[in-house]
Amino acid sequence: MRKWMVLSIGTVLFATAGAVYGAPEDDSAASLASNSTTLPNNYPFSNESGRASSFSTQGDIEKTGAFFEKLGNNDRTCETCHTPSDGWGLSTRTIRDAFRRTGGVDPLFEFDGHNCPEDDLSTVDARRAASSLMLSKALLRFAKALPETREYDIIAADGLKCTTSDLNQLFYVYRKTLAATNFQNVSSVLWDGRGGNGQTGLRQVANGAVFQHSERVGGDIREDQKDHIVNLGNSLSSAQSWDVSAKSLSAQGALGGAVNLSTLPTSGPPGFTIYNAWSSLYGEDATTQARRSIARGQAIFNTRTFAGGQTCTTCHNSQNFGNNLNGAFFATGVASKENRARELPLYTVANRSTGAIVKVTDLGRGIESGKWEDIGKFKPPMLRSLASRPPYFHDGSAATLSDVVSFYNRRFSIGLSYQDGQDLANFLKAL
Ligand code: HEC
Ligand code: HEC
Repeated sequence: MRKWMVLSIGTVLFATAGAVYGAPEDDSAASLASNSTTLPNNYPFSNESGRASSFSTQGDIEKTGAFFEKLGNNDRTCETCHTPSDGWGLSTRTIRDAFRRTGGVDPLFEFDGHNCPEDDLSTVDARRAASSLMLSKALLRFAKALPETREYDIIAADGLKCTTSDLNQLFYVYRKTLAATNFQNVSSVLWDGRGGNGQTGLRQVANGAVFQHSERVGGDIREDQKDHIVNLGNSLSSAQSWDVSAKSLSAQGALGGAVNLSTLPTSGPPGFTIYNAWSSLYGEDATTQARRSIARGQAIFNTRTFAGGQTCTTCHNSQNFGNNLNGAFFATGVASKENRARELPLYTVANRSTGAIVKVTDLGRGIESGKWEDIGKFKPPMLRSLASRPPYFHDGSAATLSDVVSFYNRRFSIGLSYQDGQDLANFLKAL
């Protein structure tokens, strides 16, 4: 069995992938120099509810190769927005730290890190205002045009601050980063599936991202660079490993954590099974209570029905991963007028044949398909290592996992009790 190494303060601990001693499963603190060129395998990064790590089937991660290189015309790499400490996504915590550290000139805030292309960037205050959507909700700017063949037009935009002369040819949406990990059973790629599907989709996005975010001009990146990027994402399993209340998430028969995730089957009936063993624990101590709460949360996720017999797993149907295996898109109402943060533009969209009107902050899948029925639809993202990368939803509208639970409870009138809500949030934090 291969050996791996974890550096914790003043100590070097050795462990095997199967039976883990020391961090991240225990309580010890760890720190990794931010300029470190090696990411030790399964390295424990702290987050609000505990610690998460990424286990790579290829061992320690040398931070060299295309993912970690500047491939375009600005100072960004993929790691700029797909940060290992944030479950290979990007949290508002990291964004705010970077702003404070650099006065808003970190590569994160270049280009699409501003609300509008024409924003004033001359002072720290100006840059703070220009990147307000990044700082408050971890949102990047995307310029969009509607397809020629479509069933609707955008007829008005409220609150859009950027300049455009024809809304149907140029409008802006703001989206949060998706995690570049746990691609074992990836289906549609990008929030609206415009990246395509599965491994082919990842390869396409590995190249496309360089043009989208790094202002590359000229030809595509090389095939070996695409290989490097796709192999990295495929080799990684990321998950919460340790929880402040429940402690080790792989104790007493539980199968939480990144190492377990790397060995879980990628098929099976919808639902999570990793905390099954915790549903029958006995004991009044705080750790046992916290473990039981997580197990109850898992049961709610799997079986609580609402809105005509749906469960959370109707859409999040990939076992123990939580994305949608069929590559389907759903309108959960996140992009609706009712859920709108006032900083976001609100688009009024009119159906060309019926004249029906809908108001949304982002047209989602509809932008790609041109179909009326796809307006406001998004993919259900993979649900592991969530605690590493707040905020949540494509528009960052849920600051915490408790906010996610409140959103669903309201939106689908689920009728969760206070305890149910806590249990479900505790479960999501332990993924
Ligand atoms: C400026 C920030 C930024 C940079 C730099 C960046 N990304 Fe992303 N990435 C995003 C955002 C935002 C999304 C979601 C966009 C969407 O779906 O519309 C995303 C989505 C993705 C996805 C889709 C994941 C999924 O589950 O569908 C992949 C894969 C990806 N990025 C890979 C890369 C690679 C590879 C690089 C480097 C070449 C890169 N990204 C650079 C912000 C960034
Ligand atoms: C009708 C389909 C559907 C149902 C039912 C559903 N989800 Fe989702 N879920 C989605 C979609 C689509 C998204 C992305 C929405 C967006 O960002 O616009 C999402 C996003 C999420 C996210 C945010 C992930 C991230 O990375 O930002 C979490 C967490 C989540 N869902 C948990 C749940 C829970 C818990 C339930 C049950 C109470 C549930 N979902 C029920 C479709 C669904």
